[in-house]
Amino acid sequence: MTRYQRPTGTHDILPQDQPYWDYVKRTARSLAERMGFERLDLPTFEYTPVFDKTAAGEGTDLSREMYSFQDKDGQEITFRAEFTASVMRAFIENGMYVLPLPVKLYSFGSVFRHEKPQQGRYREHQQFNVEIIGTQDPLADLEVLLLAERFCAELGYKGVSFQINSTGCPACKPAYIEKLVDYLQARHDQLAPVDRDRLERNPLRVLDSKEPGMDALLASAPHIIEHLCDDCRDHFAELRAHLDRLKKPYTVNFRLVRGLDYYTKTVFEVWSEGIGAQNAVFGGGRYDGLAEMLGGPPTPGVGFGSGLERHVMTMQTQGVEPPPLPRPPIFVAVLGEKARQAAIDLTVELRDSGLGTWMSFGQRGLKSQLREANKRDARYVVILGRDEIEARQATVRDMAQAEQVSVPLQELAEWLKARVSQT
Ligand code: HAM
Repeated sequence: MTRYQRPTGTHDILPQDQPYWDYVKRTARSLAERMGFERLDLPTFEYTPVFDKTAAGEGTDLSREMYSFQDKDGQEITFRAEFTASVMRAFIENGMYVLPLPVKLYSFGSVFRHEKPQQGRYREHQQFNVEIIGTQDPLADLEVLLLAERFCAELGYKGVSFQINSTGCPACKPAYIEKLVDYLQARHDQLAPVDRDRLERNPLRVLDSKEPGMDALLASAPHIIEHLCDDCRDHFAELRAHLDRLKKPYTVNFRLVRGLDYYTKTVFEVWSEGIGAQNAVFGGGRYDGLAEMLGGPPTPGVGFGSGLERHVMTMQTQGVEPPPLPRPPIFVAVLGEKARQAAIDLTVELRDSGLGTWMSFGQRGLKSQLREANKRDARYVVILGRDEIEARQATVRDMAQAEQVSVPLQELAEWLKARVSQT
């Protein structure tokens, strides 16, 4: 028989990795809520235009990476290719623009992209996503950066780097792209084939090039920062002034261009240390024209998406230890088959009273059950045999102390609770 493997670019999250995942998600949720974000859950798939009329415009990598198909009704469907367009679709569809603005939303979920898999890059990955919708104030840009910064601080990351840039707006971006194209066309013979291809499809992406020689070639290319309109220039200056006043370190990176099509003004990434080439743990920016692309009223917004796999990788490579996940502290062991029924009842009763309790499976001796309890890190083993049942008492073994006492069955739950809650 065929043994199946998971599809290329997907991964299983095994129990031993769950403490990392749980810690990352709990930190994210608690921070978002402390900063006034509310949770929004979205469908895992949308009608395809939600993505291809917005983030995945012509020439973007994303447009070639979407998991799209026609469903049985002939509808064009795409698995979530990114959050922001989906969040904005929900914002408009649910009339959230009548709420006090801005609306601050956070979400968790899978994102699907048919990319070339490598370390830190998957075809299904999970994101923590936040958006502030309904204000143009650069303070909102600051707010999402502060959330990312606090997140890294709470997880104890070392060596994180904040990269920011402005990509301009429809008033200044096209003229800048023209200047960039002129500059690159004049050096066409020095460009690698992939960059020539980018120059054709999406010239801004050439700035992202990792090809040899491009650092020098791009150093004297026109920088967007010097070609912004007054509005974009003031907006970026104000964001920088806030960051400077708060003494938050950042780098203005004129080569930072993001792969999605809707960005205006601020774009940023947060890079983590020690996890390889795919080191962006947060990526985001402003998208002041997105609402209109989806047929909504003009509504500016800013936010970020953050890859949870990359956070888990950062924690694991930097030696950040998450707290362990709770496991049942009680194990009910059966001494002789005659006590089986009473042991099942007791297991159920202890669980009903709120105590995490392991059920002992199979017919076996006490020694084997104690060995199992030890492996499962149970702190107390309740031993129930015929003698115990007759005396209406249980023998309780404290596994750490290797001591046993008798406890009346009637008082057992309270007795255990008092001890389990001591630590
Ligand atoms: P993005 O940069 O495409 O932005 O993705 C956000 C983050 O998701 C990245 O910084 C990275 O941590 C993670 N990520 C992306 N692709 C992969 C992958 N193939 N495997 C593992 N992790 C990945 C967006 O999606 C925007 N919607 C972010 C945003 C929100 N902009 C404004 N608001």
